[in-house]
Amino acid sequence: MAEIVIVADAAAAGAVVADEIARLVRSQPDAVLGLATGSTPVPVYAALPSRLAGVDVSRVRGFALDEYVGLDPDHPESYRSVITREVVEPLGLDPERVSVPDGSLNGIEHAGDDYERALVDAGGVDLQLLGIGTDGHIGFNEPGSSFASLTRVKTLTRQTREDNARFFDSVEDVPRHCITQGLGTILRARHLVLLAFGKGKAEAVAAAVEGPVTASLPASAIQLHPHATVVVDEAAASDLRFGDYYRYTFANKPAWQGL
Ligand code: F6R
Repeated sequence: MAEIVIVADAAAAGAVVADEIARLVRSQPDAVLGLATGSTPVPVYAALPSRLAGVDVSRVRGFALDEYVGLDPDHPESYRSVITREVVEPLGLDPERVSVPDGSLNGIEHAGDDYERALVDAGGVDLQLLGIGTDGHIGFNEPGSSFASLTRVKTLTRQTREDNARFFDSVEDVPRHCITQGLGTILRARHLVLLAFGKGKAEAVAAAVEGPVTASLPASAIQLHPHATVVVDEAAASDLRFGDYYRYTFANKPAWQGL
């Protein structure tokens, strides 16, 4: 199963995961990072610039998980804009080496295949950051998504649109469709790092790591991955059955193992 790391708060999670990313980039300057958007990865992105100061990032590549369909890429809440603002600019990455699925309506029918090809051509993702939706989605793979799915267009659930309405003027402004890496795509990454914060995520986290592996809870797919790490704050960990064991295991983990 995934390794569960329970930390005090989101800032501590950001530090732990940013340390791991910095370690990866130092040892592998052409590392391929899988980038999530939304609120969850923000503490990781905030902690990264100081850790990567003086490190050559010119060969680092990045691939975003998903994008809204039909939203102008220049819209401040398009994931292209978010990744540029929160990752590319603060870290000084080469924008040409950071990809986001193309959500424009023109060519949307082959955008998924194009993205899959670009991921394969880049050699695959070394470390994939993931958030989790309150309905258990990862990427925008809503409940019912196939574990073999690849990058494609999906319809957002009403709940996800309501959850994301805080980034827009109203829920009606949240696009209805997205293009997202599939669960099969995500499972190809060499290391999955899923983060979750707050009581609102506790039920989904417990179901994902301790519940049955089921397409009804897409994040449970991480149980099939040989190297998955789940970093949660105390609130998001509050529904876990074996929380004390995870704390004990992490406290006694040899430092050389990293995450
Ligand atoms: C974002 C993504 C989604 C979010 C999830 C949680 O790229 O793929 O799975 O990670 O919706 O969103 P936040 O982090 O805003 O709670």
